[in-house]
Amino acid sequence: MSDIASGETPAPPVSPNNPCPFLRALVAGGYVGGHVVPLAELSGTIDRATGKTGLAAINAGIKIFMVAQIANGLGPLSQLRSLTKGAVLDELRNGPLDKHGAGSRILDEHAVVHEEEIARLATYGQTYNNPDGGTERGLSASDIKTFMAANFQRAKDEHPRYYAILRCYYPLLMLGEWPVLLDIMGKGQGKDRYLSVAEIRTLFVERRFPDRIIALLKR
Ligand code: HEM
Repeated sequence: MSDIASGETPAPPVSPNNPCPFLRALVAGGYVGGHVVPLAELSGTIDRATGKTGLAAINAGIKIFMVAQIANGLGPLSQLRSLTKGAVLDELRNGPLDKHGAGSRILDEHAVVHEEEIARLATYGQTYNNPDGGTERGLSASDIKTFMAANFQRAKDEHPRYYAILRCYYPLLMLGEWPVLLDIMGKGQGKDRYLSVAEIRTLFVERRFPDRIIALLKR
């Protein structure tokens, strides 16, 4: 288990009630605040990180806006608050997007990183050609598909009724997590595009994006 960077500098603190590794890195890097963030600001910031432009950027922005709109609750009051004030990033835990252990389990409910779960994630990967030179372990779209199915199955095996019947829509939520991270942070092209295990570890443990994403965020 680890709550600080592998180096000497501890990562800036982020509320344990923000369970999203992507949003945690945005908060830790100071790209957005850690509490209430207007939806337009949040989706605009994430849009920058995608590096997309034109119609593709508008399309991504709309999807992010919609996800953030429901993240703090599905009731009319929550919806109104999200729309008028913004998403509350330190109140995402136990919200509609929290899959309660059906994800990777790299972050526990106290947002402590579990290294053994990062090691488990790596077992779903393969060796890929790094466009920057050499090779490294990573997960392609198809590796990620297998990984997400295994995560859901693990939760289902533990609580068959809850996950198979009451939470059968969780695999849909997952499509907005690891595959989108691959889209943004992946290296390489086509079916060989992969998420680097080393960069996933840095994202979770140090709450830090790779330099190429930081460059996009600073534009
Ligand atoms: C494009 C931007 C985003 C990316 C790439 C992304 C990626 C991810 C990933 C990889 C996970 C980890 C799942 C796991 O451990 O298995 C996650 C979890 C989560 N994300 Fe995001 N996310 C994004 C935007 C958002 C937004 C806008 C919200 C809400 C405002 C959000 C809320 C959450 C929540 C609540 C979880 C926890 C789910 C769980 O523990 O079951 N994410 N996200």
